[in-house]
Amino acid sequence: MTETSHAVIVLAAGAGTRMKSKTQKTLHAIGGRTLLSHSLHAADALHPSRIVAVVGHGRDQVGPAAETIGEELDAELAIAVQEEQNGTGDAVAAGMTQLEDFEGTVIVTNADVPLLTGDTLTELLAAHTEVPTAVTVLTMRLPDPFGYGRIIRNEQGEVTHITEQKDATDAEREVDEVNSGVFAFDAGVLRDALTRLNTDNKQGELYITDVLGIARDAGRPVRAHIADDARELAGVNDRVQLAAAGAELNRRTVEAAMRGGATVVDPGTTWIDVEVQVGQDVTILPGVQLKGRTTLADDVTVGPDSTLVDVTVGEGASVVRAHAVEAVIGARADVGPFTYLRPGTVLGEESKLGGFVESKNATIGKGSKVPHLSYIGDATVGEYSNIGASSVFVNYDGVNKHHTTVGSHVRTGSDTMFIAPVTVGDGVYSGAGTVIKDDVPAGALVVSGGHQRNIEGWVERKRPGTPAAEAAKNARESAD
Ligand code: UD1
Ligand code: CA
Repeated sequence: MTETSHAVIVLAAGAGTRMKSKTQKTLHAIGGRTLLSHSLHAADALHPSRIVAVVGHGRDQVGPAAETIGEELDAELAIAVQEEQNGTGDAVAAGMTQLEDFEGTVIVTNADVPLLTGDTLTELLAAHTEVPTAVTVLTMRLPDPFGYGRIIRNEQGEVTHITEQKDATDAEREVDEVNSGVFAFDAGVLRDALTRLNTDNKQGELYITDVLGIARDAGRPVRAHIADDARELAGVNDRVQLAAAGAELNRRTVEAAMRGGATVVDPGTTWIDVEVQVGQDVTILPGVQLKGRTTLADDVTVGPDSTLVDVTVGEGASVVRAHAVEAVIGARADVGPFTYLRPGTVLGEESKLGGFVESKNATIGKGSKVPHLSYIGDATVGEYSNIGASSVFVNYDGVNKHHTTVGSHVRTGSDTMFIAPVTVGDGVYSGAGTVIKDDVPAGALVVSGGHQRNIEGWVERKRPGTPAAEAAKNARESAD
């Protein structure tokens, strides 16, 4: 453990039964990160000497998830196991087993408070260390405090203790200042108080909240730090609160993009994950979802109605009504409308992927175009080539996938089939309806299929009585 004077314990051992889910509560996601990940990233922003994640219920899911998130963090992450979920006090005690020799400030947060920011934790830590304090609880005032622990103060306005909803008297339930579940503790005071907790309460659990009363009774100073923005401290206990937290997080993320110089025409239908980067003078039209590690360079236009997942979009590109996953769209490229970019699509500068085109594992060079109704998979296309409408890169023989290589300045006719593996040289032309099975040398015109044959009178002879035969008869008679 490196020597800084504060550590963080993140509680993530609770059952989360109100989610009614196979997935552990803290592994539900908003803004592209799990609740657990949000809480660990907020803790990391404090630059603590160590972060301890306390896992218990569903720990076969939560433990490995925490380890994976730990790899993205600057701070060292330790996992503590709370064997039985005997309450938040017991959970903090489990966390302290990973901080045995630690002296300084222990910050405790909950993994189910995803909007809590590193800035707010930093303010709490500053408030706690400004004057000698044994415990500082982060509180908020709520119009409807139901369900939360109430902050009880004496006539001098000093915090004396916290009373849980279920244990509160009618008078205490009137109190609108509540416990956010986030605390700063002096490590020594916390260690001592944890040995004094008891289960004499309605839930029969060890409450971390009781540490305040114990510390104060021992003559140690206990204070509250009231958060400016209660919405940041909203806990997620069920799916209704999950959606509300997701909407609030998104509102903040979209607002940050606008403050950074992006135009968002309809913030209400724009969803941006927290790790997405949005450049200046980007325009986002209604119905856009930017997910994962998507990056939009300056002057990009996206939308309406587009979803980009882990997509990199170059400067000045335009993406209209597209669905793209793990793709790269080059500067000033033109995508859409109604275009599906699957993983491994790499579009060069000023290239185009037009309407009803699907691509996968395809590199399309600078200025090349696939404008209409085509499938381009497992392919490399050079620069300034044009793939005619309704073409298919036939990459799959039923067993294996094969690659097609098309050179630069190629002009293929409509309905060209590229039967992979095949290579088409630079400057090649193909006739409409060509089936390219063999390599085509540079500069050739390739055509396939025999000459057209018209078998006169076939419809009237072979399909008598049909509307087509009737039309054919009428045409013949009026020509006679
Ligand atoms: C808790 C607080 C309450 C506060 C509220 C804020 C207590 C007794 N009550 O109530 O004062 O207003 O948070 O949201 O602390 N957990 C464990 N192990 C356990 C029990 C819980 O790790 O044995 C974890 C949960 O995963 C969760 C956190 O502790 O992250 C809070 O537990 P929860 O049951 O949600 O507490 P609340 O009833 O919300
Ligand atoms: Ca809770």
